[in-house]
Amino acid sequence: MGAGSGPEEPVGAGRPLLIHLVCGARPNFMKVAPLYHALSAKSWATPVIVHTGQHYDVNMSGSFFSEFGLPKPHVSLGVGSGSHAEQTARVMVAYEKVLQEQRPDLVVVVGDVNSTMAATLAASKLGVKVAHLEAGLRSFDRRMPEEINRLVTDVLADVLWAPSQDAVDNLLAEGIPPARIILVGNIMIDCLEMFRDRIERQRTYSDYGQTKGTYGVVTIHRPSNVDEPLILRELCGILERVSESIPLVFPVHPRTRQRIAADGLLREAQGERRLFLPEPLGYAAFMSLVFNARLVVTDSGGIQEETTYLGIPCLTLRENTERPVTVTHGTNRLCAPGELLSRVCEILKDGPRPAPSIKFWDGRTAERVVEAIGCEFGRPKGVESEVRSLEVPLN
Ligand code: UD1
Repeated sequence: MGAGSGPEEPVGAGRPLLIHLVCGARPNFMKVAPLYHALSAKSWATPVIVHTGQHYDVNMSGSFFSEFGLPKPHVSLGVGSGSHAEQTARVMVAYEKVLQEQRPDLVVVVGDVNSTMAATLAASKLGVKVAHLEAGLRSFDRRMPEEINRLVTDVLADVLWAPSQDAVDNLLAEGIPPARIILVGNIMIDCLEMFRDRIERQRTYSDYGQTKGTYGVVTIHRPSNVDEPLILRELCGILERVSESIPLVFPVHPRTRQRIAADGLLREAQGERRLFLPEPLGYAAFMSLVFNARLVVTDSGGIQEETTYLGIPCLTLRENTERPVTVTHGTNRLCAPGELLSRVCEILKDGPRPAPSIKFWDGRTAERVVEAIGCEFGRPKGVESEVRSLEVPLN
């Protein structure tokens, strides 16, 4: 990737804007992909993918690049795993050098992972403009590492692109000037709509001997659920009991797999024939499972949103959520482990519910973001037609 221009060159001098799209962990890739493709369709933008390497496995990272038609990351920082401070510090040190070499016009960070906060810190300290996509979400629970990342990122970012009105309200309540906040909608829905055809062609459930609407999907990886052996042991036992009511497909995140293996819970869980424990799946394969599921049990942020958009009942194994709109308007319900079995039984008795409509969860968030960048830097309009004509190569 070319190194861009020196800091002395005024922005808007006719050259394309150099825009870094920073990603690091699995939930970032589906947020960066629609934006990368939308920006690539603009002659005035040069999007550069910066991969911090927080996630590095093929099935946590590499597969998403090929699946989303993304190029190999233009910049790879290769930070890998570590404690929070180690991971954050490694991203800052490595990314600072890249920022000094390339001097991007804008750094876009997404979501709430350690890479998001670290890149924001490094860029802000060098006076590089930062935009945060998915700004303003708050669980109001600082025991979550992601909440710290959200707070730090939003207080430093110059531009805050919020997914929903509650996120806008949170930012205003924290004293962020309204001029920095734009409600752009939910970029995850763009990714889902971009790949809907591919998702709908898959029948992932058949790999587990299931049919449409007969099974549940489980994902669990939050430290609060998996890091404490007693809590994880209790959860595994409950999932086994739930699987007697409905078969469960549980693609196991590496963090969870490590803990289950370390505490000898994996064999217990595998002993139950209605509980399937594959490795993490690719995007379309996983979304195909969700599209056709009777219900979902999760502690993920993004899956709460996807199930709400699709109208699929979701039980979230957390005390709180930074995505309250999924509870107030959607299909999501917070649930303690001890309540899981009875909540599942309630859902199994209930009929299907219509999917709600939430403002700007419409597959056009990337368009709005591109338009916002264009306005910020005085670039030409006409966003809609160009982005609509985008074609993502099939792999
Ligand atoms: C991170 C994010 C979380 C996000 C999640 C999605 C933070 C604080 N947390 O949590 O918000 O929901 O990603 O997946 O940024 N590992 C592998 N292979 C990989 C990546 C990780 O084996 O490709 C292992 C690591 O060695 C580590 C564990 O998984 O032991 C956890 O990875 P880490 O990035 O620390 O956090 P996540 O739990 O994935």
